[in-house]
Amino acid sequence: MRDILREDWRKGKPPRLNVHNTKAGLLDAVAGEFLELAGSCQQAGNSFSVIMGGGRTPGVLNERIVLFSGGRGIDWGRVFIFFSDERCVLPGHSDSNYKLINDTLIGPLGIPGGNVFRICGELGSLEAASDYNKKLRDFSGGVGVPVIDLALLGFGGDGHTASLFPRSRALEEFDAFAIAAGVGPEGLERVTVTYPVFNSARNVWLIASGEEKAGAVRELVLGGYNPTGYPAQGICPVPGNLVYWFDATTWPQA
Ligand code: 6PG
Repeated sequence: MRDILREDWRKGKPPRLNVHNTKAGLLDAVAGEFLELAGSCQQAGNSFSVIMGGGRTPGVLNERIVLFSGGRGIDWGRVFIFFSDERCVLPGHSDSNYKLINDTLIGPLGIPGGNVFRICGELGSLEAASDYNKKLRDFSGGVGVPVIDLALLGFGGDGHTASLFPRSRALEEFDAFAIAAGVGPEGLERVTVTYPVFNSARNVWLIASGEEKAGAVRELVLGGYNPTGYPAQGICPVPGNLVYWFDATTWPQA
């Protein structure tokens, strides 16, 4: 583990780097830590709430979570699932982040539908964002920002996370918990959860693997503080913990 002390992160805990030799080793480790965290939350008498990231990585990660879940004593009826962002498609659409998480995690683990807070992208971005803002506000009991146990986020090669895209309007949203995020690289309207929710989480894990992301990851970790250009730099939970999970092709400096 290496701490990175950065001026802009000094106000919170500096991010920690977990670097694994291969993508498979990285995902094994994240899945194990996910289950450990869920178990420790429940052993403390609490539920476990998680914001699942989008893209394709969650699919292969979830397969490991399910595979390793046996014998952990986790009560999946006390696990609550949120989503970091969504494309404005039907929930059964191949581009739906919900579909991937439902097929690979919610279904296999039997997480009750009442515990799953979907971004209803099919409503269109404005209505879906308003609806999700309400869902998040209700989860916080209507008081302040919802405090989620774990935000498990992906990272794009342009420095985005969730659907917080460079130079986008969503980067300036600090009141609403969810907002219309514009059009993603696949050409679909998006909805994203906003910085206040991510930065109020008790734990934020950002996962990046693959050589194609190495340049953006280096900028994220070692570049000047520029969250407009690299929105993932704006993820700095206080007082929560921030962990970067990389493989060796993404962070060869290890
Ligand atoms: C999305 C995501 C996005 C994703 C990254 C990484 O809906 O696309 O939320 O932020 O996590 O682009 O995607 P991969 O895991 O597919 O590389």
